[in-house]
Amino acid sequence: MYDQKFWNERYARDEYLYGTNPNSFLVEHAELLTSPVLSLSEGEGRNAVYLALRGLKVHAVDISEVGLAKAQALAKLKGVEIQTEVADLSNYKPKKNYHGSVISISAHLPSAIRNKLYPLIEQCLKLDGILLLEAYSENQLARNTGGPKDADMLMTVDKLKREFPNLEPILMRELEREVREGEGHVGMASVVQFIARKKSM
Ligand SMILES: C[S@@+](CC[C@H](N)C(=O)[O-])C[C@H]1O[C@@H](n2cnc3c(N)ncnc32)[C@H](O)[C@@H]1O
Repeated sequence: MYDQKFWNERYARDEYLYGTNPNSFLVEHAELLTSPVLSLSEGEGRNAVYLALRGLKVHAVDISEVGLAKAQALAKLKGVEIQTEVADLSNYKPKKNYHGSVISISAHLPSAIRNKLYPLIEQCLKLDGILLLEAYSENQLARNTGGPKDADMLMTVDKLKREFPNLEPILMRELEREVREGEGHVGMASVVQFIARKKSM
């Protein structure tokens, strides 16, 4: 259901669906991140451009070429460079021991994809590299303020612990917070937030 066609159609308009301001959880903890940053499901570029403005080198991956074209337009407007790659995370192979950080902001994926991808995300981080993730939690299903209507794509703290066994959590919590990101994410929401560091595997 949430396939490439779905996302290309969602992004096919001048406005930025999730706005052009970065995600606030990312902003709060951006000082922990080092280059090169891999951004999973970057969409229209708001987070990659923010990190590039902070001087970080960002490689942004998304299945939607329409979203990533808007990401490049936003980067140009702000006078920074970002690398973008149209790719399906179901068969994405990041470089091993290469990234200083990985960000995953509202990158909701079915468990069948996560089960293949997340071990590769652990491997792609350098020692002491950081993963920063925010996603809607399963409790978001009861709300109409954003996120997929599929519990399998939504996260819990238990899923995070299980799916990233080789990362050491620095922050791991579920909370309710007001999310205002363009028209796409609007209102009180149930989210999980996760920051973890790679220790030797
Ligand atoms: C809710 S949007 C979040 C976009 C962006 N991270 C943000 O916070 O503004 C989800 C994104 O996941 C991307 N996506 C969905 N399935 C994907 C897949 N299999 N591989 C890569 N990207 C995917 C969509 O194209 C979309 O940009």
